[in-house]
Amino acid sequence: MKQSVKLIVGNWKMNGAAGGLEQARLLAEALKDQPTANQVVLCPPATLLERIGSAVAGSPIQIGAQDCRAEPSGAFTGCVSAELASEAGAAFVILGHSERRAGFSESDELVAAKARAALAAGLTPIICVGETLEQRDAGQAADIVERQVRASVPDQARTAAFAVSYEPVWAIGTGRTPTLDQIAEIHAVVRRVLAERFGSAGETAPILYGGSVNPKNAADILHVEGVGGALVGGASLKADDFLAIIRAA
Ligand code: PGA
Repeated sequence: MKQSVKLIVGNWKMNGAAGGLEQARLLAEALKDQPTANQVVLCPPATLLERIGSAVAGSPIQIGAQDCRAEPSGAFTGCVSAELASEAGAAFVILGHSERRAGFSESDELVAAKARAALAAGLTPIICVGETLEQRDAGQAADIVERQVRASVPDQARTAAFAVSYEPVWAIGTGRTPTLDQIAEIHAVVRRVLAERFGSAGETAPILYGGSVNPKNAADILHVEGVGGALVGGASLKADDFLAIIRAA
């Protein structure tokens, strides 16, 4: 399915301390001067949500968090709930990023619980899935992604806005990307599962690609059949690079 409006999401990860606000301002100004038809979301660290939100006010940029806790409140030192992220200005939240699945042992079930919490707080979850290099080399990429989509996207997504991002673990931060055919193949798997589970909601939810998207490869990737946008890490930190990706869509 061809989606003309793309969802372009910048994941700053644990960056943005020096100069992040300035980059956000530059991006906002550029998009005010020359608007885009695409939907643009910046996901800074939780401590910057409000300030980045203020910096881009009046522009089409929306704000997202990079994670949330599944519980609505309580004794969870160091964590941020979906409601807190929403109160700080987030409209989106990235969930199940491979850096969290690997580094914080997040299971599909936990990701689904977080997505339910996000939906209950009115956030749009961007649920990440993707195979490791070993799994791809073993010919398991499609099966792994199918299983992750089935278990990480909660039933509640049927009646709410959500997105899935296909992010091969081996493509994140490495400069390596799958071939365009490989991207198309996995996106088709994700779409099939979403459509099976959620009917029309599953047919229209954006499916993003993430992993080493940059200004040079963005146009090719974003025009692959079924790709509804991009989740951009490193190249989202500089306004110029991120803008080039937004304009390539
Ligand atoms: P990258 O990260 O663009 O730096 O590869 C993508 C991501 O982790 O979402």
